[in-house]
Amino acid sequence: MRDFIIFGKGDFADIIRYIIEEEMQRNVEAYMVNKKYLDMEVYCGRPVIPYEEAERYYKPSDYAVSLGYEAHDMYQTRERLQYELSKKGFFFDNVISNTANLTNASLGHGNIIMQNCVLAPFSKIGNGNVFWATAQVQHHNILGNFNCIAPGASSSGYVKIGNHCFIGTNATLKNNISMADYSLIGAGAYVSENTSEYEVVVPVKSIKLREKNCFDFMR
Ligand SMILES: CC(C)(COP(=O)(O)OP(=O)(O)OC[C@H]1O[C@@H](n2cnc3c(N)ncnc32)[C@H](O)[C@@H]1OP(=O)(O)O)[C@@H](O)C(=O)NCCC(=O)NCCS
Repeated sequence: MRDFIIFGKGDFADIIRYIIEEEMQRNVEAYMVNKKYLDMEVYCGRPVIPYEEAERYYKPSDYAVSLGYEAHDMYQTRERLQYELSKKGFFFDNVISNTANLTNASLGHGNIIMQNCVLAPFSKIGNGNVFWATAQVQHHNILGNFNCIAPGASSSGYVKIGNHCFIGTNATLKNNISMADYSLIGAGAYVSENTSEYEVVVPVKSIKLREKNCFDFMR
């Protein structure tokens, strides 16, 4: 089994290392970051190497890379990194929590699937997607590449999600709808119709009852 190198250091990289080592029982050999962020030689007890020269340190055909860095740009940077590192020859094995349930879903590569996610039967998942803990993709969904499905987000049957979409925490997608590329669905939204490219859908905001406190209700 190939060892992993994680791109990035920080909390997202820590989550990925936990899944790889504690849940998948595979080894993280090193971290890589862009040269200009190379401010430490060791992170979590592993060497940190420059991304630009990664292939000088580790033979690409012997290693998988996982991207432990989000960038908050609808995963455009993640797509570029996955493309460039694949071109150097590194593999992008999927990182899958041992508590995720993937009955019969088909998967590309470079996906990260966290704790207690459900990818239901007959779903087709592309490359480079991140499913945060407890995200649910129901039966016969088709997902493209480099989407972020946040914790507790849930898509009903036969949903299509294009590329570079962000589906926020606890958002719900009605069955049979399509999310166009770069759709941004805010946390807690209920989406009942197709979206267009770059569209943003948000729910009504909850309000603070500024004149009340908890003991006005719980006495
Ligand atoms: C939709 C979302 C991205 C908006 O981001 P935000 O930081 O809350 O946005 P802001 O509060 O700065 O608001 C920006 C603008 O959008 C509007 N807006 C944001 N949420 C809105 C809502 N629910 N209803 C109406 N308008 C809203 C604001 O009024 C503001 O308008 P303005 O620029 O004209 O003043 C955010 O609410 C969200 O859902 N984030 C995802 C959280 C999540 O799932 N995290 C998990 C990551 S794994």
